[in-house]
Amino acid sequence: MPHEVNGVIASRKGAPVRIETVVVPDPGPGEALVSVQACGVCHTDLHYREGAIGDDFPYLLGHEAAGLVEAVGPDVTGLQPGDFVILNWRAVCGQCRACLRGRPWYCFATHNATQKMTLTNGAVLSPALGIGAFADKTLVAAGQCTKVNPAIKPEVAGLLGCGVMAGLGAALNTGAVTRGDSVAVFGCGGVGDAAILGASLAGARKIIAVDIDNRKLDWACEFGATDTVNSVITDPVEQIRALTEGHGADVVIEAVGRPETYTQAFYSRDLAGTVVLVGVPNPQMRLDLPLADVFGRGGALKSSWYGDCLPTRDFPMLVDLHLQGRLPLDKFVSETISLDGVEEAFEKMQRGEVLRSVVLL
Ligand code: APR
Ligand code: ZN
Ligand code: ZN
Repeated sequence: MPHEVNGVIASRKGAPVRIETVVVPDPGPGEALVSVQACGVCHTDLHYREGAIGDDFPYLLGHEAAGLVEAVGPDVTGLQPGDFVILNWRAVCGQCRACLRGRPWYCFATHNATQKMTLTNGAVLSPALGIGAFADKTLVAAGQCTKVNPAIKPEVAGLLGCGVMAGLGAALNTGAVTRGDSVAVFGCGGVGDAAILGASLAGARKIIAVDIDNRKLDWACEFGATDTVNSVITDPVEQIRALTEGHGADVVIEAVGRPETYTQAFYSRDLAGTVVLVGVPNPQMRLDLPLADVFGRGGALKSSWYGDCLPTRDFPMLVDLHLQGRLPLDKFVSETISLDGVEEAFEKMQRGEVLRSVVLL
C-alpha cells in the first residue's frame, strides 16, 4: 500500500519551497523504501528550485541523506529492513563501459527507482538527484543504499552522500594527496573544508586555505588548514608560491567553480602538480589560458565528480574513521532543523552563515 508522508516540494521556478503530502509506492523489483532520518541542505537543492538544473517541476528536494531501510523489492539481495544506509546519487551499475573497464567511479548509467513518487493529485515528482529525501520516506534503487555502521549519527552520516564526499574524494581519490604533500584549496565552504580534511587525513604537510571571507578561513583551520590566504587582500598565487619555497603546491583543489579561481589554481600549482576541479561551473563559463602554459607546466588537470567516490568502498570506510575519532565529520553540521526550515536554510546558505544545515526527520 502506498505511503503518504510529508515532503519538501519545489513547485515552480524560483517559488519558495513548501511542505506537501507525497505518495510513496511500496518498493518494486530492484527498489528500496527508506525511512529518512536526516538530510543535509545542499546548493544543488537550491539550484533545482531556481530552475538551474532542469524544468521537470515539481521537484521533491533533498539528497544528502541517511536512514533505515523499511522495505525492499522482491528480488533485492544484500539489503534488508532495519539496515542503516547512506543514500548515494550515483549507484554503480556494473554493466556500462566504465564499470566493465574497472573504473566504476565513472559509471554513467542512471540507476534510480523505476516507480514514481507523486503528489496526492497524481502529479509525478522529480526527486532531486534521483533521491528526494526531504521526506519522511523515499523510494530509491536498492543500489543507491550503502550500508554503514549504525553507530554514527544520521545527521553526520548523510553528509557523506554528497558535498562532504565530493570534497574528501577530491583530495583522497582524484588528487591522490599523499603524506608530505603541499596542498592548496580554493573556496572553503563545505566542499573545500572537506577537501582540507581529506588532505589532512592523507598526511599533507602544508594545507593552504584560500577564500574571500575571513570567517570561512577560520573554519578552514579547524579542518586542518595550516595557512590561510584571503584572496581579496593578497594575491593567492604569489602567496601560495611564497609558502611553498617558490614552487607552488603539489595538489591544488578548486572548490568554487569559477574561471577566475580555476586560473589562480592553475598558476598556484607546482610544475607537474595536479589541479582538481570539484567546484561546479555554470554552463556559460569559459576558461581562457595560454596553451603554452598548459603545455609548459606539465602535470595533470583533473575534475572530480562526486569525489570520484565508490559508495560501497568509501562510505563504510569513512564512517569507521569517524567513529574512531579520526575524521571529525560532525564539524560540518552547523545546525539541525526540521522539514519546515529548508527555505530559511537556503537563505543562511546564501549568506554564507552555515557549512551545512541538516534536516532531522
Ligand atoms: N575566491 C576564493 N573563494 C571564493 C571566491 C573566490 N573568488 N568566491 C567564493 N569563494 C568562497 C566562498 O566564500 C565560500 O566560502 O567559496 C566558498 C564556496 O562555498 P559554498 O558556497 O559553501 O559552496 P560548497 O557547498 O562548498 O560548494 C562549492 O562545489 O558542489 C559544488 O556547486 C558547488 O560549486 C559549488 C562548490
Ligand atoms: Zn556503470
Ligand atoms: Zn548535494
